[in-house]
Amino acid sequence: MVFFLPLPPMEFRKLYIETYGCQMNVVDSEIVVAILQQNNYQLTEDMDEADLVLVNTCSIRDNAEQRVRSRLNEFKSLKKRNREVSVGIIGCMAERLKEKLLEEEQLVDLVVGPDAYRELPSLLQEVEGGQKGINTILSLEETYGDIRPVRMDRNHVTSFVSIMRGCNNFCAYCVVPGTRGRERSRDPETIIRETTELYQKGYREVTLLGQNVNSYRWEQNGELNFENLLERVAKIDPDLRVRFATSHPKDMSDSLLKTMATHPNICRSIHLPVQSGSTSVLKRMKRKYTREHYMNRIESIKKQLPGASISTDIIAGFCGETEEEHEETLSLMEWAGYDFSYMFKYSERPDTFAALRYSNDVSEETKTRRLNEIIELQMKLSLESKQRDVGHTYEVLVEGTSKKSKDELFGRTSQNKVVVFPKGELKPGDYVNVRVDNCTSATLIGRPVGA
Ligand code: 5AD
Ligand code: SF4
Repeated sequence: MVFFLPLPPMEFRKLYIETYGCQMNVVDSEIVVAILQQNNYQLTEDMDEADLVLVNTCSIRDNAEQRVRSRLNEFKSLKKRNREVSVGIIGCMAERLKEKLLEEEQLVDLVVGPDAYRELPSLLQEVEGGQKGINTILSLEETYGDIRPVRMDRNHVTSFVSIMRGCNNFCAYCVVPGTRGRERSRDPETIIRETTELYQKGYREVTLLGQNVNSYRWEQNGELNFENLLERVAKIDPDLRVRFATSHPKDMSDSLLKTMATHPNICRSIHLPVQSGSTSVLKRMKRKYTREHYMNRIESIKKQLPGASISTDIIAGFCGETEEEHEETLSLMEWAGYDFSYMFKYSERPDTFAALRYSNDVSEETKTRRLNEIIELQMKLSLESKQRDVGHTYEVLVEGTSKKSKDELFGRTSQNKVVVFPKGELKPGDYVNVRVDNCTSATLIGRPVGA
């Protein structure tokens, strides 16, 4: 008689991951989870039961780094409670600070830059052997194209898809080309495959991500540019909404706008970071366009995609910014009538062109005042933008339950505006026509109407 002894249960290790910063980091964390899942790690939402805690970090402004530093301080008590836990810093801060992070933050065991995630399993073995693990080598090719990210979104309706990595623009203030390396595009076949799989799983919206999506280019078997890729993704199914971020004003072409106009499922919403409304500041920022060029692009968007929403990024108090130059930003905002803006105080980043060549000479007080003026103006513009929608009906993709009430759902219009409405029989992933009855500066309030 033959006895089979039961195999001992495979011992999984538990991974807890926190993500800071941009949408690219969200996808990167999903890639990291995919890599580690293939190496015997399971995701946990409880930090206390984790064998490995990873923090995916951002370096874009000093306060983003400070937030991570104070979080690391909080981890000290975790390490006291659980001496076995390993702590790793990944992402842009890991790339920028390299070994310094290991010296400065004693509790950190592992430092891994954005292009070295495939090395995580072998680095973790080093950590298990009692060493510190570090790899911050940047790559000219890595896109993680073959890896299926493990989705960590909560709604299973909207998702990000990375189409390229890095940036070649070297804007004077920006740390990204240093932390994420040179620009490279991902194989379109892997993008189409990933997006099709998301659609088949029930996702109804994808956002194609890159630091500068308009320079997407794939040159095997003929040439494919961003418009061609966008069109291929839009053709997967008319029920799949497609968004993209971020576009650079210097290469926002009319032909891209035409492609958008011919596909109703490419969302009527364009994020076009202006950074400043003053040509002289833009020149110092090395943005490679003028106020007039930017205005011409906005005019073209308004002409070719009437009713599209336009959002932007603005930096207040860049090096040498005068009161007149600041006023030019305010007047451009008013002219463009932005629906939404991300607004920041200039933060000097080590080793950038601006840090090396210019003086960070706008006082903190002036930066704060200018930023507040920008925020105040945007609040007014956002409210006006929402008020224009009152009385109109929009197709909304339902994303989830409203934070304020279990009986209400929220979703977005094609223009990327959040709408709250009564739940009825609807569920996340449904499309519904909603008539807007009311609004705040952040949200539209409406009710479903018959098709
Ligand atoms: N200081 C302030 N804001 C910055 N951004 C990038 N670098 C800096 C900096 N050093 C902003 C830009 C960019 C957005 C992602 O972050 O507006 O578009
Ligand atoms: Fe930074 Fe400019 Fe590249 Fe954007 S385009 S990531 S602001 S360098």
